[in-house]
Amino acid sequence: MEKKMPREMTGAELQSMLKSTINFKSLGGVKCRELDLSPEEKQWFFDCKIGLFVHWGLYSVLGQGEWAKFNEQIPDEEYEALADELGREEFHPEEWVEIAQDFGARYMVMVTRHHDGFSLWDSPGSYRHFTSWERGPHRDYVKEYVQACREAGMKVGLYYSLMDWRFPGYFDPEGQRENAELMKKEVYDQVEELARDYEPDILWYDGAWLAHKGSDTSSAWFWEPDKLNKMARSYRPGLLINPRSGWEGDFYCDEGSHEITGKIIPVPWEKNMCICSGCSWGWMENDPVSDFDWLIRMMVNVVCRGGNWLVNIGPDKNGKISDEIRNRIHEVGEWLRRYGESIYNTMAGPYEPVDNVYGSTFHENTVYLHILDREKFGELYLPYLDNEIEAAHLFRGAEISVHRTEKGIRLPLPASAKDQTGSPDTILVLKMKKTVKEKREQIHFTGKE
Ligand code: GLC
Repeated sequence: MEKKMPREMTGAELQSMLKSTINFKSLGGVKCRELDLSPEEKQWFFDCKIGLFVHWGLYSVLGQGEWAKFNEQIPDEEYEALADELGREEFHPEEWVEIAQDFGARYMVMVTRHHDGFSLWDSPGSYRHFTSWERGPHRDYVKEYVQACREAGMKVGLYYSLMDWRFPGYFDPEGQRENAELMKKEVYDQVEELARDYEPDILWYDGAWLAHKGSDTSSAWFWEPDKLNKMARSYRPGLLINPRSGWEGDFYCDEGSHEITGKIIPVPWEKNMCICSGCSWGWMENDPVSDFDWLIRMMVNVVCRGGNWLVNIGPDKNGKISDEIRNRIHEVGEWLRRYGESIYNTMAGPYEPVDNVYGSTFHENTVYLHILDREKFGELYLPYLDNEIEAAHLFRGAEISVHRTEKGIRLPLPASAKDQTGSPDTILVLKMKKTVKEKREQIHFTGKE
């Protein structure tokens, strides 16, 4: 069957769509129709909704952020010696997978190699054998992680940084072309190893921008990301790929801890952010853990606008997660075990969100209204849709009467609403007359202008 061509969205229409705090990285990547997956092929990812991101590497020994090598200009030899400090105490990546399950995550993304070039697997393609297999711990952590994920039914994501600071050619790709080509060869060899030998479900690139300038997409002339990703897909045909290799990717990315407002974005997208302050993705002592309420509101704001929520943790040099982070992970997981029906396997809509007041998700003919401000909600009217509300009730709670007025629909919340949910999000369940129609379109954003 011939694939339907996605609609291109540019100019004023795109600007209006993105009138929100959602800020997509790497727009305008190289197009390659052969790499397009159909919406059906990507659906599993959006059904998962929640993911856990893990940043762990040599920088976790220092606790000054994953950019420490570059920021502090640490000499190579001194930095490489950190390998002897990594993973010295008993630790198995299954522990991360257990934490991800406790969080309610249905996929994970593990950093297999960050900008410092240190690879966490037995990688023959690694330049100067800079791997956890040949140095320090002598372990193939990627293999152990993948096995643990598979056993737990967790989808497997691998983060891979194209950038490798060890190559002078990275900083001067034109002047030192030969050296830059050596770096590129390493990338092709390692992506091949990861796709072929570790069979990931998601390939999560980062750091395509050259010499720390421009964007991931402006360096596409160098990486030839269409060629790179065709090679990866030759081993994993359904592999989902993020937009940060210079190719436009299977979904869009919003990064960081900023609040999410605006309309539903009817394209696949994912928010990635840290569970702590966001000052560092790698381990940092005393990095404050975000509030429970704040996290739940963030998740709801993302999911009600069509996004997936990928939350990062930074284990310490022994792979351990602090009790504070663990406790918060558990609390969010408890929330999801109770209310997950309104998050997993849903789509955003049919009601457009009203910033900081409410948003909605749906599955077939059930709509979940996520109310973040009960007082303001009480003053608003829900718009009429081309579908009717047949009945409404609090999530596993009391029935709510539906008042149809000239201005719109009112759903008065009983005083017990807060206690009934015990969370910053009060959920109403609306049974609709008909199955709710998907709003999602196959659109390609081609740039911000
Ligand atoms: C940025 C940072 C990097 C981090 C990533 C996570 O690209 O450079 O350190 O790993 O964001 O998305």
